[in-house]
Amino acid sequence: MTFFAPAGKGLRGTLTAPPDKSISHRAALLAGMTSDPVRVTNYLEAADTLSTLQAVQALGAIVEPRDGELIIRGPGLRAAAQPTGVIDVGNAGTLLRLLPGWLAGQADGIWILDGDESIRRRPVDRIATPLAQMGAHLDAREDRYTPLTISGRRLEGIDYVLPVASGQIKSCVLFAGLLASGATSVTEPAPTRDHTERMLRQAGARVERDGATVTVHPQDELEVDDIHVPGDPSSIAFHAAAAMLVPGSRLVLEDVGVNWTRVGFLRIAQRMGAVVVGPLEEPVDGIPDAEPVAELDVRDSALGATVVEAGEVPLAIDELPLVALLGCFAEGETIVRGAAELRLKETDRIATVVDGLRNLGADIEAAADGFIVRGTGGLRGGTMEAHGDHRLAMLGAVAGLASREGVEVVGMEAAAVSYPRFTADLESLLG
Ligand code: S3P
Repeated sequence: MTFFAPAGKGLRGTLTAPPDKSISHRAALLAGMTSDPVRVTNYLEAADTLSTLQAVQALGAIVEPRDGELIIRGPGLRAAAQPTGVIDVGNAGTLLRLLPGWLAGQADGIWILDGDESIRRRPVDRIATPLAQMGAHLDAREDRYTPLTISGRRLEGIDYVLPVASGQIKSCVLFAGLLASGATSVTEPAPTRDHTERMLRQAGARVERDGATVTVHPQDELEVDDIHVPGDPSSIAFHAAAAMLVPGSRLVLEDVGVNWTRVGFLRIAQRMGAVVVGPLEEPVDGIPDAEPVAELDVRDSALGATVVEAGEVPLAIDELPLVALLGCFAEGETIVRGAAELRLKETDRIATVVDGLRNLGADIEAAADGFIVRGTGGLRGGTMEAHGDHRLAMLGAVAGLASREGVEVVGMEAAAVSYPRFTADLESLLG
């Protein structure tokens, strides 16, 4: 499906942020790890998070939609109900990396995880390595890719130092730690999203943070209360970026999750001069209980260049394509470095973002671990190929609104992976 984003149309109005993808994945998995029924409100109905519901069903959970909510009756932490099987993770990298943490501790269980073409290019050795150290048996194609076979074992706790700052790897090891004997610690080189820690604590697990190290202790069971999924700061970042760039825009965003480990993009944009009014959570020591939510008011303004360094990258990882776009309009040279992880996303997002924006007239070049953009005050427009990557499709649409000639996005349907209403929401806000 192609979508034409017309040039120069400002965004005006109010938008309720769509439900958070990261938190929805975790809600389904934690509900699956609980044997009492769990009520999940505002669960994201998108391709990725439907894959997670199907996965917990394949493990024996019953998922019942009721009045716009979900009631999930899981098999419990020791998911012995379905001890073997093939699980299709679709396009969902988060499911691919988190679920094995739970499965690895199911002694005698054997599962095979596989997914679509994009999933088959995404590395799983990053989780197989720590899980094998804990005692699980994993077998991956070329030691790195799906199909991934997981043979559950009795696990031992480990102290694991993450080789890359990744919320997915951290979450996987913490899930495995629930089932291990002894404590399991994960030390991260830079802060990453902390939803797993917050949700585990709410589920009664003993989990602590000391500086860069998170420790989880073995659990007999989890006690998850109702889970409410807040709005996704990564999804609304696209509409917010359009409002920052197109003259005459003013956008009020409601129900936005403002967990400080997720709003790196909004802080970077503010540093560039964007007007984003609303309370973003400040970094905190330890593990907060809840997910903070706020209303944000975004307007267009003149932007200046910035430099994004490695420590800030995980806090804005999914929104870095938008930093490149803002850089096209900002005065000076915008640089993102320490972001080689972008090459391992749904597409190689250094290559696809640089090629995609350059085709629209941007002065941008790729580096091994990021990109450099020289602001030229605008973008011509043209055609953007989504390559099956949801965030690239949405980037193309936003670039079109901000460009001089508009952008035709080829493969707009990819947005449904995280934000099925993306174009409908956009069109409702065009002045
Ligand atoms: C996610 C973590 C990030 C992010 C992905 C979702 C998560 O991946 O890119 O979209 O829900 O934990 P990494 O932490 O592996 O970089």
